[in-house]
Amino acid sequence: MTTTPISPAKIHISDKIAAAVYEGLMSRPKWLPSWLFYDAAGSRLFDEITRIPEYYVTRTERAILAKHATEIVARAAGEQVLRIVELGAGSADKTRLLLTAAADRQDTVFYEPVDVSASALVEAQLRIEDELPGVIVCPRVQDYTQDLELDPTLPKERRLLMYIGSSIGNFEPGESLMLLERVRAAMDMGDCFLLGVDLAKDEAVLQAAYDDAGGVTAAFNRNILTRLNRELDADFNLATFGHRAVWNSTESRMEMHLVSAKSQEVWLPGIDLRVGFEMGESIHTENSYKYKQGAAEALLAKTGFAPEVTWTDERGWFAVVLARAV
Ligand code: AVI
Repeated sequence: MTTTPISPAKIHISDKIAAAVYEGLMSRPKWLPSWLFYDAAGSRLFDEITRIPEYYVTRTERAILAKHATEIVARAAGEQVLRIVELGAGSADKTRLLLTAAADRQDTVFYEPVDVSASALVEAQLRIEDELPGVIVCPRVQDYTQDLELDPTLPKERRLLMYIGSSIGNFEPGESLMLLERVRAAMDMGDCFLLGVDLAKDEAVLQAAYDDAGGVTAAFNRNILTRLNRELDADFNLATFGHRAVWNSTESRMEMHLVSAKSQEVWLPGIDLRVGFEMGESIHTENSYKYKQGAAEALLAKTGFAPEVTWTDERGWFAVVLARAV
């Protein structure tokens, strides 16, 4: 089956979503960027994923941070006052662990979450200032995947910039390199960077984590089509697209796909595109890279950081790396 843009002259790709969807669905193989998952419903589903039994990622990282928060903060601060910066609008209780440890050392902790969503930042600010009176939230609305500029530090202040949750795993290797270079450029020498990465592990564990028995990850994956139906007026029939999670050992990544159960055509009036699907053809919706031992440290060393300590859990499933800007 062919894919034909109905009338190229009529295409007005006016925003980021339309452009990305058009490019992805015109490509072979077809793909969609994984940031499209995170509309309101997708963010709620991801929140649910973090609590399902098979998705070890969040709770494993949380346990590492809970165990080492005091040491992380002490190493990062040295004799200085710590300012905590986070890429993303606060990973709820994981962020709270570090903010609490910092608030135990100093009267006031400035916390600067950076996120593209103003509403997520407002929510984080209300929640954190309510729960942690010693913390002052200085939100920054910015798409850190494009740009990063931070508040200047005060004379005796040093930053601890957190990028946790294995979020770096959703970027392609070249993109994560550029992201870390951008992060380093926004920091000062001596500041610290805390990076959470998911590690390569037994395939069965990964498979279950990305295709849980309760079907939450499947719903999360399909939600991308619901979003295209709503925002681009598309007519995807969700029942005809199956969720598939596969381990790609060559690339060391989990992949998510939406597989067409039949030969069909989908119409996306919002971008004036009619797309054909063969039976079994998939849309590649996400890569989640799993780092080999030492790979995160090597990436950090390449981008202007000196890795200082790596903490892992007993099973060696997840790593939290503290690195210094040099
Ligand atoms: C947000 N990100 C780190 C998650 C991951 O594990 O790559 C997104 C996710 N996809 C499926 N389940 C969770």
